[in-house]
Amino acid sequence: MSTPHPWWQGGVLYQIYPRSFADSNGDGVGDLTGITERLEYLESLGIAGIWLNPVTVSPNRDWGYDVADYCDVDPDLGTLSDLDRLVAEAGARGIRVLLDLVPNHSSDQHAWFVEARSSPTSPHRDWYVWADPRADGSPPNNWRSAFGGPAWTLDGQTGQYYLHNFLPEQPDLNWWNEEVRNAFDEILRFWFERGIAGFRIDVAHGIVKDRELRDNPPAVEADDEHTRRVGQRPVYNMNRPEVHDVLRRWRQLAERFEPPRVLVGETWVLELDRWAAFYGNGSDELHLAFNFPFAFSPLEAEPLRRAVEDTESVIPEAAWPVWTLSNHDIRRFPTRLCGEEEPQVRCALLALLSLRGTPVLYYGDELGMPDVPIPADRARDPVGRDPCRTPMQWTAEPGAGFTEPGVEPWLPLGDASRCNVEAQRGRDDSILAFTQHLIALRRELPDLRVGSYASLPAPDDVWAWRRGGRVAVTVNLGGEQRSIASGPGVIAAATHTARQGEAVESTLVLGPWEGALVLMGYR
Ligand code: NOJ
Repeated sequence: MSTPHPWWQGGVLYQIYPRSFADSNGDGVGDLTGITERLEYLESLGIAGIWLNPVTVSPNRDWGYDVADYCDVDPDLGTLSDLDRLVAEAGARGIRVLLDLVPNHSSDQHAWFVEARSSPTSPHRDWYVWADPRADGSPPNNWRSAFGGPAWTLDGQTGQYYLHNFLPEQPDLNWWNEEVRNAFDEILRFWFERGIAGFRIDVAHGIVKDRELRDNPPAVEADDEHTRRVGQRPVYNMNRPEVHDVLRRWRQLAERFEPPRVLVGETWVLELDRWAAFYGNGSDELHLAFNFPFAFSPLEAEPLRRAVEDTESVIPEAAWPVWTLSNHDIRRFPTRLCGEEEPQVRCALLALLSLRGTPVLYYGDELGMPDVPIPADRARDPVGRDPCRTPMQWTAEPGAGFTEPGVEPWLPLGDASRCNVEAQRGRDDSILAFTQHLIALRRELPDLRVGSYASLPAPDDVWAWRRGGRVAVTVNLGGEQRSIASGPGVIAAATHTARQGEAVESTLVLGPWEGALVLMGYR
């Protein structure tokens, strides 16, 4: 008998950056009502759930990731009742809503921190990580912020340093303090009771710090680019084994609800065996752990196949992968991986939507929307991530259907005349139509939705795999035509739309940058 698959395994998730999706009130900033007004579009994509980047109250030093109130909506984005309405109306269309939880740090404007910094003996003092200066007045240890500079800022009033793994306006919470754990239990419950289907958990691997605040070791040549840039390995300021206790606690809490709520972790861990540990035994920690080795692979057959095979080999038996190629931090895949070439974009979408695991699309991925160059005087993000956070391109009109014509959006619009929803909705052979078709196929075919993954033999530049018993997916990620041995079947999805429905006998011939999904045995 087959095990039933929960909704978040069978469906596709869609990430929305709320400030940039749809502006309902003409202030140049996207909002929750804007999302509600676009539910028809989201339903037409066939997605099962949306993850919203933070919608909670924030002074926006790090655009929502500096939270000043975990249980209310930021006024720029709307109100709690706007969110309730979005959840209800999305639910009526079969779309669940996930929020972003930011437990590693709050804003320095949060009442907890304002109180904590007021005195060394204040009740919330120990909710954050404080330490005395070294004898020479320098920070307590060598930890560096992920955004550059020391991870410690001296609080002049009380003479101690506080820890911030990101901006100084984002003080790290002290996860050794049981009151902090209890406060977050309440926050999770608050949202789950409001019908939120789950959370994407920010910095899920990093919230617990070394209790002794030991120095991090220096980076070495073999480390990844980010580690080398920071200059040290984040061994003690993140990645502590005790984080797993917190994840287990949240998993238990999430499963007390019906249906169980889902936890998706931002597990920025590049060694796959350590990454797999975030699934615990497969059913007692995160439901889904973001896979950065896959996201960072070049669009080449060998590295992608390796990333997927390695993932499949280390992930616990009962656990479920999650795949993504773009997000609000790592840039849009059409620019980052595809040189903004449409055939490459289609191959990437075919792969993303045909693996075993939950695909997560970032708003605009379904159109092949590229990054947008941002002039220096329009930059909003402290570390330069604006190009992948620009407004959704709905139409070619002034304002791109995102905001009213004549209104300056909070970030500049891209070239909506080249890429927009309206134009692509009108064409059967658009990238949007291709994405919708792939999502529809996933819904239709159990093999594609939940079947096992196995790589198939393939010539150079070609990545081919089987899903379940009857689906074979092949992408030619190179500039030469390739012939691939195949059993008989029919092409059910093709990057060249005209090939859909074509019969395959014993050989599948793919041109440069072409891919096909073949239903085996369907003659
Ligand atoms: C990861 C988030 O995705 C990113 O946008 C943010 O700046 C950092 N965590 C800090 O919260």
